[in-house]
Amino acid sequence: MSSLLETKIAARQHALREQGLLRQRKVLSVDHALNTNASTSSPRFVFKGRAYVNFSSNDYLGLSRVPQLAEALHLGAQTYGVGSGASPLVTGYSDAHLALERELCDLTGHEAALLFCSGFSANTALMKTLFDQHDIVVADKLVHASIIDGLQDSGAQLKRFLHNSLESAERLLARNQTSALITESVFSMDGDCAPISELSALCRQHHAWLIVDDAHGFAVLDGYNNAEAAKLIDVQVVTFGKALGCQGAAVLGSQALIDFLVSNAREYIYSTALSPANAALALAATQYSTVHPELQQKLFENITLFKRLCREANVPLLGSDTAIQPLIIGDALQTLQVAEELRAAGIWVGAIRPPTVPIGSARLRITLTAAHAAEDIATCVAQLAQVLSRVGVPLVTERQATDEHR
Ligand SMILES: Cc1ncc(COP(=O)(O)O)c(C=O)c1O
Repeated sequence: MSSLLETKIAARQHALREQGLLRQRKVLSVDHALNTNASTSSPRFVFKGRAYVNFSSNDYLGLSRVPQLAEALHLGAQTYGVGSGASPLVTGYSDAHLALERELCDLTGHEAALLFCSGFSANTALMKTLFDQHDIVVADKLVHASIIDGLQDSGAQLKRFLHNSLESAERLLARNQTSALITESVFSMDGDCAPISELSALCRQHHAWLIVDDAHGFAVLDGYNNAEAAKLIDVQVVTFGKALGCQGAAVLGSQALIDFLVSNAREYIYSTALSPANAALALAATQYSTVHPELQQKLFENITLFKRLCREANVPLLGSDTAIQPLIIGDALQTLQVAEELRAAGIWVGAIRPPTVPIGSARLRITLTAAHAAEDIATCVAQLAQVLSRVGVPLVTERQATDEHR
């Protein structure tokens, strides 16, 4: 007889499979022949013996394959060892960590920074530690799962405003004595940007903090990687696994906030610190992105090219101007089918389904990077147009689909 848990697991997996929502990992490998010009050719990987052009990573500047950054990681490991060996409050905090924190503060104008091993733990730690049942927090309807999880754990009263709607945010701020408003600089699944200056003004008016998850904006959008950021944003969460091409994250804010997190954030206190080698790498990647503005330029040329080709081929995109270009299909199974057909043509794009996005708004999440070659972008769009018309997908371009609850 099966145990209770075996029965539960089997039933849940069956239900997910039936709805096309089962998640499975794919083992990817690298073909070194494909990567000889790693930083100048389109990102590719091998799956089951076949090469694919990768249009689904968040490595927006192509930094994950830059040889100087591999050297920085190597040097960091030689200098400090390959791991931190302890929590930051024991012996896991080094001058490599401090140097990165200082660099991030210099870039953004914030007083202090705290490093985490991932953006997910930075967000949950921040929310759980900062808020409790006495706080009312308002957040955009599309904020990331890590923010929602942290807020739920905190016990705070959460109120959601309509995606990117200043009117809706203002209504909530006016009706509730709000501790903080939370949004993202660039929304991870829609690719659109929050009106940060306007939200900041609203927050000032209502004496609430503005917290911005800058995972998809940092090092790639000009907006908040400058000394002005701290004037608009009270707490900024930046991640190193997207445009910086490596791993880890930081919470940036006032010295008082960071001191408070050091003493109270369980994810920080009871977890092995980010390795110093990774901190050295993230510092090198931050500096590399600063001294190579041509990478941002190339990324925006690639975004512009992709959007123009889609317009010409009648491929209806959501209207994003960032590296994240969603194409809403609606049905989860059809989304998988389109992604599969694109794979048959050597193009790998993300097929994003609920609960990552609202029910009825399953989508392709196509991401551009500075490393994509123009001919690969052209092939991607041509194949996309062909597959969409072949599969006969009823395209959902109405934005309401994404305005539902997550
Ligand atoms: C908006 C946003 N915040 C936070 C995270 C988590 O960052 P990390 O991948 O470093 O855990 C992600 C990653 O998917 C994200 O998209």
